[in-house]
Amino acid sequence: MSKVIVVTSGKGGVGKTTSSAAIGAGLAMRGHKTVVIDFDVGLRNLDMIMGCERRVVFDFINVIQGDAKLKQALIKDRRLENLHVLPTSQTRDKDALTTEGVKKVLDELREEFDYIVCDSPAGIERGAHLAMYYADEAVVVTNPEVSSVRDSDRVLGLLNSKTALAEKGDGSAVKAQLLLTRFDQNRSANGEMMSVEDVLEILAIPLLGIIPESTSVLKASNEGTPVSLDEKSPAGKAYMDAVGRLVGEQIEMRVNPGEQRRGFFQRLLGRTA
Ligand SMILES: Nc1ncnc2c1ncn2[C@@H]1O[C@H](COP(=O)(O)OP(=O)(O)O)[C@@H](O)[C@H]1O
Ligand SMILES: [Mg+2]
Repeated sequence: MSKVIVVTSGKGGVGKTTSSAAIGAGLAMRGHKTVVIDFDVGLRNLDMIMGCERRVVFDFINVIQGDAKLKQALIKDRRLENLHVLPTSQTRDKDALTTEGVKKVLDELREEFDYIVCDSPAGIERGAHLAMYYADEAVVVTNPEVSSVRDSDRVLGLLNSKTALAEKGDGSAVKAQLLLTRFDQNRSANGEMMSVEDVLEILAIPLLGIIPESTSVLKASNEGTPVSLDEKSPAGKAYMDAVGRLVGEQIEMRVNPGEQRRGFFQRLLGRTA
């Protein structure tokens, strides 16, 4: 059965697009047929992070407006057999995405793909609402700082009330999980950043993963490669662990998967084992 997963946050610049690309690539690497859709009509950078921007001819909006068939707009990744991208364009008006249009495209994609990953724009307005509306699950991307946590909390409220599942009124809900990104263990231990526990206490949703702050993320994005394909990157490894959990595996939570394993809470407290 196919799953629609929205990658959302409220706040901009926290790592939604990076995470959408990394999770999409990770799912594809594990053999799941996956498509990542760019819902960010304002920014349009998913195609660049995934390294397919030069191949864009038709996009999500063309399909919704009936100017192209879905198959004409889908771009197959050149590295991973199971990975596809549905890009969007930044030039057209933001009302180009319609609720009915999005539903039609998602229904068609559900027939072919195991996972449909929706890269949400920032904010809680129309674009973000459309990206989450038909979701089965949500990855709530949050940085360990107060404004990001506050915006994520707002998004959790919307996921619980303004989605197709919530509107069924039978107790159905979008399954939301937290992806804590740009985490710096030392800065958290110093009190410069919030701790994992503090964030979890406020948002009170299951923890999908902790992605460390890592220079490999910018490097991967400049190369147009999802960071999960970089086996040496601590962020890439953390994304692959998160993907494992997303598909239901039990994987121990490590703050920095590049390091030797130590007790999770010892690390949080900055102690050496
Ligand atoms: N784990 C990380 N370590 C370092 N930089 C990161 C990390 N995650 C994201 N970034 C950087 O943060 C910026 C915003 O990321 P992006 O994925 O575009 O966020 P959003 O889609 O939420 O606006 C980018 O420059 C990206 O390279
Ligand atoms: Mg983005």
